[in-house]
Amino acid sequence: MSVPSADQVPDIPILKALGDRRSIRYFDDTREVERWKIETMLQAARFSSCQGNINATEAIVVRRDECDLWEELEECVSGFNVQIINQASHLILWLTNINAWYGRAVDGISSLSLSGAATKYHGWNYEFSMTQTIPRLMSFPPERTETLLRFESGQAVANAITAGVGVGVGNILIAFGRKPGGVEKAFNLPPNYKFTWGHAVGYPLEDAKAGGQRPRLKFDKLFHDNALGTPYMCQPDTEALLREKGLIQEQAPLDGRFDEIVAIAGQHGRDPGMLYFPAAEIERLMADDDWDFGPRIRAKAADVLATEDLPEYPQEMKETFTKLMAEHGIDASKFLPRGEE
Ligand SMILES: Cc1cc2nc3c(=O)[nH]c(=O)nc-3n(C[C@H](O)[C@H](O)[C@H](O)COP(=O)(O)O)c2cc1C
Repeated sequence: MSVPSADQVPDIPILKALGDRRSIRYFDDTREVERWKIETMLQAARFSSCQGNINATEAIVVRRDECDLWEELEECVSGFNVQIINQASHLILWLTNINAWYGRAVDGISSLSLSGAATKYHGWNYEFSMTQTIPRLMSFPPERTETLLRFESGQAVANAITAGVGVGVGNILIAFGRKPGGVEKAFNLPPNYKFTWGHAVGYPLEDAKAGGQRPRLKFDKLFHDNALGTPYMCQPDTEALLREKGLIQEQAPLDGRFDEIVAIAGQHGRDPGMLYFPAAEIERLMADDDWDFGPRIRAKAADVLATEDLPEYPQEMKETFTKLMAEHGIDASKFLPRGEE
Protein backbone atom coordinates (compact mmCIF):
# COMPACT_ATOMS: atom_id res chain seq x y z
CA MET A 1 0.00 0.00 0.00
CA SER A 2 3.01 2.26 0.00
CA VAL A 3 2.80 5.46 -1.98
CA PRO A 4 5.95 6.84 -3.60
CA SER A 5 7.13 10.36 -2.99
CA ALA A 6 6.33 12.82 -5.75
CA ASP A 7 9.94 12.94 -6.95
CA GLN A 8 9.89 9.19 -7.55
CA VAL A 9 7.04 9.47 -10.03
CA PRO A 10 8.14 10.52 -13.52
CA ASP A 11 6.31 13.46 -15.03
CA ILE A 12 4.87 12.57 -18.41
CA PRO A 13 3.89 15.58 -20.55
CA ILE A 14 0.20 15.49 -21.39
CA LEU A 15 0.68 15.38 -25.16
CA LYS A 16 3.03 12.43 -24.75
CA ALA A 17 0.58 10.63 -22.45
CA LEU A 18 -2.20 11.14 -25.00
CA GLY A 19 0.04 9.81 -27.77
CA ASP A 20 1.26 6.87 -25.68
CA ARG A 21 -2.26 5.63 -25.01
CA ARG A 22 -3.17 2.36 -26.62
CA SER A 23 -5.91 -0.13 -26.04
CA ILE A 24 -3.89 -2.85 -24.35
CA ARG A 25 -5.21 -6.36 -24.97
CA TYR A 26 -2.47 -8.49 -23.44
CA PHE A 27 -1.92 -8.00 -19.73
CA ASP A 28 0.70 -9.51 -17.44
CA ASP A 29 -1.44 -11.51 -15.04
CA THR A 30 1.42 -11.82 -12.55
CA ARG A 31 1.55 -8.09 -11.89
CA GLU A 32 -0.85 -6.12 -9.79
CA VAL A 33 -1.32 -2.41 -10.35
CA GLU A 34 -0.46 -0.53 -7.18
CA ARG A 35 -3.36 0.90 -5.28
CA TRP A 36 -2.05 4.47 -5.50
CA LYS A 37 -2.16 4.22 -9.29
CA ILE A 38 -5.81 3.16 -9.30
CA GLU A 39 -6.52 5.95 -6.83
CA THR A 40 -4.74 8.38 -9.13
CA MET A 41 -6.91 7.33 -12.06
CA LEU A 42 -10.09 7.70 -10.03
CA GLN A 43 -8.97 11.11 -8.82
CA ALA A 44 -8.40 12.17 -12.42
CA ALA A 45 -11.95 11.03 -13.21
CA ARG A 46 -13.32 12.94 -10.23
CA PHE A 47 -11.79 16.18 -11.46
CA SER A 48 -13.01 15.87 -15.04
CA SER A 49 -15.52 18.46 -16.15
CA CYS A 50 -19.08 17.75 -15.07
CA GLN A 51 -22.23 19.67 -15.86
CA GLY A 52 -23.40 21.94 -13.06
CA ASN A 53 -20.83 20.20 -10.85
CA ILE A 54 -23.30 17.40 -10.24
CA ASN A 55 -20.73 14.57 -10.03
CA ALA A 56 -22.72 11.94 -11.91
CA THR A 57 -19.88 9.52 -12.62
CA GLU A 58 -19.12 6.77 -10.13
CA ALA A 59 -17.24 3.50 -10.42
CA ILE A 60 -16.93 0.10 -8.82
CA VAL A 61 -13.34 -1.15 -8.71
CA VAL A 62 -13.24 -4.93 -9.04
CA ARG A 63 -10.43 -7.40 -8.43
CA ARG A 64 -10.70 -10.91 -9.85
CA ASP A 65 -9.53 -12.73 -6.73
CA GLU A 66 -11.48 -10.54 -4.32
CA CYS A 67 -14.86 -10.06 -5.96
CA ASP A 68 -17.47 -12.74 -5.30
CA LEU A 69 -19.31 -11.69 -8.44
CA TRP A 70 -16.41 -12.38 -10.80
CA GLU A 71 -17.97 -15.39 -12.50
CA GLU A 72 -21.17 -13.51 -13.08
CA LEU A 73 -19.22 -10.63 -14.57
CA GLU A 74 -17.27 -12.98 -16.79
CA GLU A 75 -20.54 -14.21 -18.26
CA CYS A 76 -21.57 -10.66 -19.13
CA VAL A 77 -18.43 -9.63 -20.90
CA SER A 78 -18.31 -9.98 -24.69
CA GLY A 79 -16.54 -13.19 -25.71
CA PHE A 80 -13.44 -11.48 -27.11
CA ASN A 81 -12.96 -9.67 -23.81
CA VAL A 82 -12.96 -12.64 -21.44
CA GLN A 83 -9.25 -13.31 -21.81
CA ILE A 84 -8.55 -9.62 -21.28
CA ILE A 85 -10.40 -9.26 -17.98
CA ASN A 86 -8.89 -12.47 -16.66
CA GLN A 87 -5.37 -11.22 -17.25
CA ALA A 88 -5.94 -7.62 -16.17
CA SER A 89 -5.13 -6.50 -12.67
CA HIS A 90 -8.28 -4.45 -12.06
CA LEU A 91 -11.60 -3.94 -13.69
CA ILE A 92 -13.25 -0.55 -13.26
CA LEU A 93 -16.96 -0.53 -13.90
CA TRP A 94 -17.96 3.01 -14.72
CA LEU A 95 -21.44 4.05 -13.62
CA THR A 96 -23.54 7.05 -14.47
CA ASN A 97 -25.86 8.14 -11.70
CA ILE A 98 -28.85 9.75 -13.42
CA ASN A 99 -30.24 10.97 -10.12
CA ALA A 100 -27.27 13.29 -9.71
CA TRP A 101 -28.98 15.49 -12.30
CA TYR A 102 -32.21 15.76 -10.36
CA GLY A 103 -30.88 15.44 -6.83
CA ARG A 104 -27.72 17.50 -6.99
CA ALA A 105 -28.51 20.30 -9.42
CA VAL A 106 -29.16 22.86 -6.68
CA ASP A 107 -26.10 22.02 -4.60
CA GLY A 108 -23.87 21.59 -7.62
CA ILE A 109 -24.58 25.12 -8.82
CA SER A 110 -24.45 26.47 -5.27
CA SER A 111 -20.98 24.95 -4.94
CA LEU A 112 -19.95 26.66 -8.18
CA SER A 113 -21.16 30.01 -6.90
CA LEU A 114 -19.24 29.64 -3.64
CA SER A 115 -16.16 28.67 -5.65
CA GLY A 116 -16.26 31.85 -7.67
CA ALA A 117 -17.01 29.90 -10.84
CA ALA A 118 -20.62 30.90 -11.62
CA THR A 119 -21.22 34.62 -11.19
CA LYS A 120 -23.62 37.38 -12.17
CA TYR A 121 -21.16 38.39 -14.91
CA HIS A 122 -22.56 35.53 -17.01
CA GLY A 123 -26.15 36.21 -16.09
CA TRP A 124 -26.51 33.91 -13.11
CA ASN A 125 -28.71 35.06 -10.26
CA TYR A 126 -30.33 33.12 -7.47
CA GLU A 127 -33.95 33.85 -8.20
CA PHE A 128 -33.71 33.09 -11.89
CA SER A 129 -31.72 29.93 -11.19
CA MET A 130 -34.30 28.63 -8.73
CA THR A 131 -37.43 29.64 -10.61
CA GLN A 132 -36.26 29.01 -14.17
CA THR A 133 -32.92 27.39 -14.93
CA ILE A 134 -32.71 24.60 -12.40
CA PRO A 135 -36.38 23.53 -12.57
CA ARG A 136 -36.11 23.48 -16.36
CA LEU A 137 -33.04 21.27 -16.20
CA MET A 138 -34.69 19.05 -13.61
CA SER A 139 -37.72 18.59 -15.83
CA PHE A 140 -35.66 16.80 -18.49
CA PRO A 141 -36.92 13.28 -19.08
CA PRO A 142 -34.50 10.61 -17.83
CA GLU A 143 -33.59 9.53 -21.40
CA ARG A 144 -32.32 13.02 -22.20
CA THR A 145 -30.47 13.25 -18.91
CA GLU A 146 -28.95 9.88 -19.58
CA THR A 147 -27.49 11.00 -22.92
CA LEU A 148 -26.04 14.11 -21.33
CA LEU A 149 -24.56 12.34 -18.36
CA ARG A 150 -23.13 9.39 -20.26
CA PHE A 151 -21.16 11.90 -22.29
CA GLU A 152 -19.90 13.29 -19.02
CA SER A 153 -18.89 9.84 -17.83
CA GLY A 154 -16.94 9.44 -21.07
CA GLN A 155 -14.94 12.50 -20.10
CA ALA A 156 -14.22 11.07 -16.67
CA VAL A 157 -13.10 7.76 -18.13
CA ALA A 158 -10.84 9.48 -20.66
CA ASN A 159 -9.24 11.43 -17.82
CA ALA A 160 -8.70 8.22 -15.85
CA ILE A 161 -7.14 6.50 -18.85
CA THR A 162 -4.79 9.41 -19.55
CA ALA A 163 -3.78 9.48 -15.89
CA GLY A 164 -3.23 5.71 -16.07
CA VAL A 165 -0.93 6.13 -19.04
CA GLY A 166 0.83 8.87 -17.10
CA VAL A 167 1.62 6.44 -14.27
CA GLY A 168 2.64 3.64 -16.63
CA VAL A 169 -0.38 1.33 -16.66
CA GLY A 170 -2.19 -0.19 -19.62
CA ASN A 171 -5.89 0.36 -20.25
CA ILE A 172 -8.69 -0.86 -22.42
CA LEU A 173 -12.40 -0.19 -22.52
CA ILE A 174 -14.38 -3.38 -22.87
CA ALA A 175 -17.93 -4.11 -23.83
CA PHE A 176 -20.24 -6.14 -21.64
CA GLY A 177 -22.64 -6.96 -24.43
CA ARG A 178 -23.12 -10.68 -23.88
CA LYS A 179 -25.70 -10.27 -21.15
CA PRO A 180 -27.44 -6.91 -21.35
CA GLY A 181 -28.40 -5.79 -17.86
CA GLY A 182 -26.12 -8.42 -16.34
CA VAL A 183 -23.77 -6.03 -14.55
CA GLU A 184 -26.68 -4.04 -13.16
CA LYS A 185 -28.18 -7.28 -11.88
CA ALA A 186 -24.95 -8.66 -10.44
CA PHE A 187 -24.38 -5.53 -8.36
CA ASN A 188 -28.05 -4.95 -7.69
CA LEU A 189 -27.83 -1.44 -9.06
CA PRO A 190 -30.87 0.78 -8.52
CA PRO A 191 -32.43 1.92 -11.82
CA ASN A 192 -30.90 5.39 -11.62
CA TYR A 193 -27.44 3.82 -11.89
CA LYS A 194 -26.52 3.15 -15.51
CA PHE A 195 -23.58 0.89 -16.17
CA THR A 196 -21.72 2.88 -18.80
CA TRP A 197 -18.56 0.96 -19.61
CA GLY A 198 -16.03 -1.57 -18.36
CA HIS A 199 -12.37 -0.63 -18.16
CA ALA A 200 -9.59 -3.14 -17.67
CA VAL A 201 -6.33 -1.95 -16.13
CA GLY A 202 -3.03 -3.76 -15.79
CA TYR A 203 0.59 -3.90 -16.76
CA PRO A 204 0.96 -4.66 -20.45
CA LEU A 205 2.38 -8.04 -21.37
CA GLU A 206 2.78 -6.71 -24.87
CA ASP A 207 5.10 -3.81 -25.50
CA ALA A 208 3.42 -0.64 -24.18
CA LYS A 209 3.44 0.73 -27.72
CA ALA A 210 1.22 -2.24 -28.61
CA GLY A 211 2.65 -2.38 -32.11
CA GLY A 212 2.32 1.33 -32.86
CA GLN A 213 -0.38 3.95 -33.05
CA ARG A 214 -3.54 2.62 -34.64
CA PRO A 215 -4.66 4.25 -37.90
CA ARG A 216 -7.46 6.77 -37.94
CA LEU A 217 -9.38 8.64 -40.60
CA LYS A 218 -7.55 11.63 -42.01
CA PHE A 219 -7.74 14.78 -39.88
CA ASP A 220 -9.51 16.78 -42.58
CA LYS A 221 -12.10 14.05 -43.11
CA LEU A 222 -13.15 14.41 -39.48
CA PHE A 223 -13.01 18.11 -38.78
CA HIS A 224 -14.91 20.84 -40.56
CA ASP A 225 -14.11 24.49 -41.08
CA ASN A 226 -17.11 26.70 -40.36
CA ALA A 227 -19.41 24.45 -42.37
CA LEU A 228 -19.99 20.72 -42.58
CA GLY A 229 -18.05 19.34 -45.50
CA THR A 230 -15.43 22.09 -45.61
CA PRO A 231 -12.29 20.35 -44.39
CA TYR A 232 -10.49 21.84 -41.44
CA MET A 233 -6.86 21.28 -42.35
CA CYS A 234 -4.02 20.54 -39.98
CA GLN A 235 -0.92 22.57 -40.82
CA PRO A 236 2.08 20.36 -41.64
CA ASP A 237 4.13 22.29 -39.08
CA THR A 238 1.59 21.43 -36.37
CA GLU A 239 1.80 17.80 -37.34
CA ALA A 240 5.59 17.93 -37.22
CA LEU A 241 5.41 19.59 -33.81
CA LEU A 242 3.04 16.92 -32.50
CA ARG A 243 5.30 14.16 -33.76
CA GLU A 244 8.13 15.71 -31.84
CA LYS A 245 5.98 16.02 -28.72
CA GLY A 246 4.82 12.42 -29.01
CA LEU A 247 1.12 12.96 -29.60
CA ILE A 248 1.43 11.60 -33.12
CA GLN A 249 3.53 8.47 -33.13
CA GLU A 250 4.72 5.85 -35.57
CA GLN A 251 1.76 4.08 -37.07
CA ALA A 252 1.14 0.38 -36.58
CA PRO A 253 2.28 -2.24 -37.24
CA LEU A 254 5.77 -1.69 -35.87
CA ASP A 255 8.48 -4.20 -36.76
CA GLY A 256 8.10 -7.45 -34.86
CA ARG A 257 4.47 -6.83 -33.88
CA PHE A 258 3.08 -10.02 -35.33
CA ASP A 259 5.94 -12.13 -33.95
CA GLU A 260 5.22 -10.59 -30.56
CA ILE A 261 1.56 -11.62 -30.70
CA VAL A 262 2.40 -15.12 -31.88
CA ALA A 263 4.89 -15.50 -29.02
CA ILE A 264 2.35 -14.33 -26.41
CA ALA A 265 -0.26 -16.71 -27.82
CA GLY A 266 2.28 -19.53 -27.62
CA GLN A 267 3.01 -18.79 -23.96
CA HIS A 268 -0.68 -18.92 -23.12
CA GLY A 269 -1.76 -21.84 -25.27
CA ARG A 270 -3.97 -19.56 -27.34
CA ASP A 271 -4.58 -19.54 -31.10
CA PRO A 272 -1.64 -17.65 -32.65
CA GLY A 273 -3.61 -16.81 -35.80
CA MET A 274 -4.58 -13.36 -37.06
CA LEU A 275 -7.91 -11.96 -38.15
CA TYR A 276 -7.92 -11.30 -41.87
CA PHE A 277 -10.57 -10.01 -44.25
CA PRO A 278 -11.08 -11.03 -47.89
CA ALA A 279 -8.57 -9.76 -50.47
CA ALA A 280 -11.08 -7.46 -52.17
CA GLU A 281 -12.02 -5.93 -48.82
CA ILE A 282 -8.40 -5.23 -47.94
CA GLU A 283 -7.74 -3.73 -51.38
CA ARG A 284 -10.81 -1.54 -51.10
CA LEU A 285 -9.83 -0.35 -47.64
CA MET A 286 -6.30 0.51 -48.72
CA ALA A 287 -7.68 2.51 -51.66
CA ASP A 288 -10.10 4.46 -49.44
CA ASP A 289 -9.02 8.09 -49.39
CA ASP A 290 -10.75 8.78 -46.07
CA TRP A 291 -8.20 6.74 -44.15
CA ASP A 292 -4.81 7.97 -43.08
CA PHE A 293 -2.75 4.91 -43.93
CA GLY A 294 1.03 5.12 -43.75
CA PRO A 295 3.65 2.88 -45.32
CA ARG A 296 3.73 0.26 -42.56
CA ILE A 297 0.09 -0.71 -42.78
CA ARG A 298 0.20 -0.58 -46.58
CA ALA A 299 3.21 -2.90 -46.60
CA LYS A 300 1.40 -5.26 -44.22
CA ALA A 301 -1.68 -5.26 -46.44
CA ALA A 302 0.45 -6.02 -49.50
CA ASP A 303 2.17 -8.85 -47.66
CA VAL A 304 -1.12 -10.31 -46.45
CA LEU A 305 -2.56 -10.12 -49.97
CA ALA A 306 0.48 -11.88 -51.38
CA THR A 307 0.97 -14.60 -48.82
CA GLU A 308 -2.16 -15.36 -46.81
CA ASP A 309 -4.98 -17.71 -47.50
CA LEU A 310 -7.76 -15.16 -47.16
CA PRO A 311 -11.43 -15.87 -46.50
CA GLU A 312 -14.27 -15.36 -48.96
CA TYR A 313 -16.97 -12.75 -48.43
CA PRO A 314 -19.96 -14.49 -46.84
CA GLN A 315 -22.37 -14.02 -49.74
CA GLU A 316 -25.34 -14.84 -47.56
CA MET A 317 -24.63 -11.69 -45.54
CA LYS A 318 -24.77 -9.27 -48.46
CA GLU A 319 -28.43 -8.61 -48.06
CA THR A 320 -28.12 -8.14 -44.32
CA PHE A 321 -25.37 -5.56 -44.67
CA THR A 322 -27.22 -3.75 -47.46
CA LYS A 323 -30.33 -3.61 -45.31
CA LEU A 324 -28.50 -2.52 -42.16
CA MET A 325 -26.78 0.32 -43.97
CA ALA A 326 -29.91 1.33 -45.88
CA GLU A 327 -31.70 1.76 -42.56
CA HIS A 328 -29.28 4.64 -41.96
CA GLY A 329 -29.38 6.01 -45.50
CA ILE A 330 -25.91 4.66 -46.31
CA ASP A 331 -25.20 3.42 -49.82
CA ALA A 332 -23.78 -0.05 -49.26
CA SER A 333 -22.63 -0.65 -52.83
CA LYS A 334 -18.98 0.10 -52.19
CA PHE A 335 -18.93 -2.43 -49.37
CA LEU A 336 -20.30 -5.27 -51.43
CA PRO A 337 -18.00 -7.83 -52.98
CA ARG A 338 -16.31 -6.43 -56.04
CA GLY A 339 -18.17 -6.62 -59.29
CA GLU A 340 -21.52 -6.98 -57.61
CA GLU A 341 -22.28 -3.37 -56.87
C1 LIG B 1 -16.29 2.91 -25.82
C2 LIG B 1 -15.25 1.93 -26.28
C3 LIG B 1 -15.49 0.58 -26.19
C4 LIG B 1 -14.55 -0.36 -26.59
N1 LIG B 1 -14.81 -1.68 -26.43
C5 LIG B 1 -13.85 -2.59 -26.77
C6 LIG B 1 -14.04 -3.98 -26.54
O1 LIG B 1 -15.10 -4.39 -26.08
N2 LIG B 1 -13.05 -4.84 -26.83
C7 LIG B 1 -11.85 -4.43 -27.38
O2 LIG B 1 -10.99 -5.27 -27.62
N3 LIG B 1 -11.63 -3.09 -27.61
C8 LIG B 1 -12.59 -2.18 -27.31
N4 LIG B 1 -12.35 -0.84 -27.49
C9 LIG B 1 -11.05 -0.42 -27.98
C10 LIG B 1 -11.10 0.00 -29.43
O3 LIG B 1 -11.29 -1.10 -30.25
C11 LIG B 1 -9.78 0.72 -29.71
O4 LIG B 1 -9.91 2.01 -29.22
C12 LIG B 1 -9.37 0.69 -31.16
O5 LIG B 1 -8.91 -0.59 -31.40
C13 LIG B 1 -8.31 1.72 -31.46
O6 LIG B 1 -7.13 1.41 -30.77
P1 LIG B 1 -6.47 2.34 -29.74
O7 LIG B 1 -7.43 2.56 -28.60
O8 LIG B 1 -5.23 1.60 -29.28
O9 LIG B 1 -6.11 3.63 -30.40
C14 LIG B 1 -13.31 0.09 -27.11
C15 LIG B 1 -13.08 1.46 -27.24
C16 LIG B 1 -14.04 2.37 -26.83
C17 LIG B 1 -13.75 3.85 -26.96
